[in-house]
Amino acid sequence: MSTDASLPQDQMMGMIQGFQMSQAVYVVTKLGVPDILTEGPQPIKEIAATTGAHENSLRRILRTLSSAGVFQEVEPDSFALTPLGTTLTKTSPFSLRDMNLMTMETLYAPFGDLLHTAKTGEPAAKHYYGESFWEWLAARPEQVAQFSAAMASSSSFKQEAINSIDWSSTHTLVDIGGADGTNLASILQREPSMQGIVFDLPHVVQSASNVLTAHGVNTRAEIHKGSFFESVPPGADAYFLSSILHDWNDEECLTILRHIKAAATPGAQVKILEFVMPPDNAPLMTAMLDLTMLGLITGRERSTTEWETVITQAGLSNFKITPTPTPLFLIEATVPN
Ligand SMILES: C[S@@+](CC[C@H](N)C(=O)[O-])C[C@H]1O[C@@H](n2cnc3c(N)ncnc32)[C@H](O)[C@@H]1O
Repeated sequence: MSTDASLPQDQMMGMIQGFQMSQAVYVVTKLGVPDILTEGPQPIKEIAATTGAHENSLRRILRTLSSAGVFQEVEPDSFALTPLGTTLTKTSPFSLRDMNLMTMETLYAPFGDLLHTAKTGEPAAKHYYGESFWEWLAARPEQVAQFSAAMASSSSFKQEAINSIDWSSTHTLVDIGGADGTNLASILQREPSMQGIVFDLPHVVQSASNVLTAHGVNTRAEIHKGSFFESVPPGADAYFLSSILHDWNDEECLTILRHIKAAATPGAQVKILEFVMPPDNAPLMTAMLDLTMLGLITGRERSTTEWETVITQAGLSNFKITPTPTPLFLIEATVPN
């Protein structure tokens, strides 16, 4: 086989074998190898002893990942972390550790049923688990914590996008589907006169108390439990939805937005942070997220026109969509007076 990665057959081979690389990255992360190597290179014997792994098998996995740039074999049988591998550590400011563990422990197996989705339209995860992904998740507290941690660290730019939003006229903000409160906590830290409510499902929102306290904003924040398919906290002048509506189909989005419209003070602002599908082929990141939505749940990534349709159909006014300094877009609307 040729080694020129630009040849179509070599590019395709990389795609075909991608699942093996996903597993290799997952295994070393689960064993904690990247964290062990933050102190410096170590011989495989010690890495295997510390992680309780089978030495020769782990050596072969580390060698493969060294070829891919995740580790570097600094001398025979001694491995070091590279900048790429550092993203798998707990302590990296751009850590994808939780995202990696969550993805592999929730999406990986169901994606084996993507052919079923292609034939029927049913999410692969629903077919694989025998229940919706959200129902499956709700019954697994350890996965809930990992899912929220993964969302909080899901992209190096989400925080930058949130920081670019103007909240100056907001008195009380409800973060709809606010998970463990990470997003709300960072907003309240930047806006010292603002009050906030983090709203999410009961089994998800219970970790928010620690996060809000750790950020020193707990005196200005409340935690509300519930489902946005029933109602949302009333009386606020701003509602924030970050990576929420792309999880749901149009009908489900309309229900969520109509509950916000019914609960909000007249004139309230609705601010939505999402990706937008461009008219031509989407950037791979957005297209991959759409594939995740397809296989996992009922949602999808939307174009500008599709966002406008769903938001105006929900009865919200002043639809506006603007890029942020990141790949995410800010979609704004107001609750009519
Ligand atoms: C993709 S995560 C986004 C989390 C967070 N907003 C962020 O930007 O990282 C979707 C969130 O919606 C929450 N969620 C799902 N179904 C919900 C429901 N019926 N009511 C309220 N929240 C829900 C999930 O628990 C999860 O925290």
